[in-house]
Amino acid sequence: MTPQQIDLVQTSFKKVVPIAGTAADLFYGRLFEIAPQVRSMFPDDLADQKKKLMAMLGTAVAGLSHLDTLVPAVQALGRRHAGYGVKAQHYAPVGSALLWTLEKGLGEAFTPEVKDAWATAYIVLSTTMMNAATEKPMAA
Ligand code: HEM
Repeated sequence: MTPQQIDLVQTSFKKVVPIAGTAADLFYGRLFEIAPQVRSMFPDDLADQKKKLMAMLGTAVAGLSHLDTLVPAVQALGRRHAGYGVKAQHYAPVGSALLWTLEKGLGEAFTPEVKDAWATAYIVLSTTMMNAATEKPMAA
């Protein structure tokens, strides 16, 4: 990611923070519409999940400026996701629901540059998660 893209993601995320609750509702509504098969992986009550997702996104967004320290946490997140039953093919609908949510939440502030910057950030995070999930643990 370029420093300018990191700046665009961080600046636009600040505009999502005040509407985090709505953004989380939009996100899960959209995700379960485009990928109904993932609904059963989540608990019936999504309240805690919504808070965790927005908190993690906030951490990830802040961490883009110092990726080296963020990577181990994202790898661990990816390994936990494998335990939730998440497979590589599930990352695309989640990314698409995220971009859709940002478009709804940011309106005109969601310029093509902001969209590109978020798409790149999601690719960096999701690739790191997927790679960590498929790596074999080291033999003892
Ligand atoms: C950049 C991508 C993603 C981020 C930042 C993210 C973030 C999180 C966080 C913070 C949690 C809380 C539990 C934990 O920390 O281990 C979580 C749980 C979970 N995530 Fe993700 N996630 C991502 C991608 C996905 C994808 C692609 C799926 C596939 C459908 C998914 C499905 C789940 C499920 C099923 C849980 C557990 C729900 C539960 O039992 O409480 N996530 N995610």
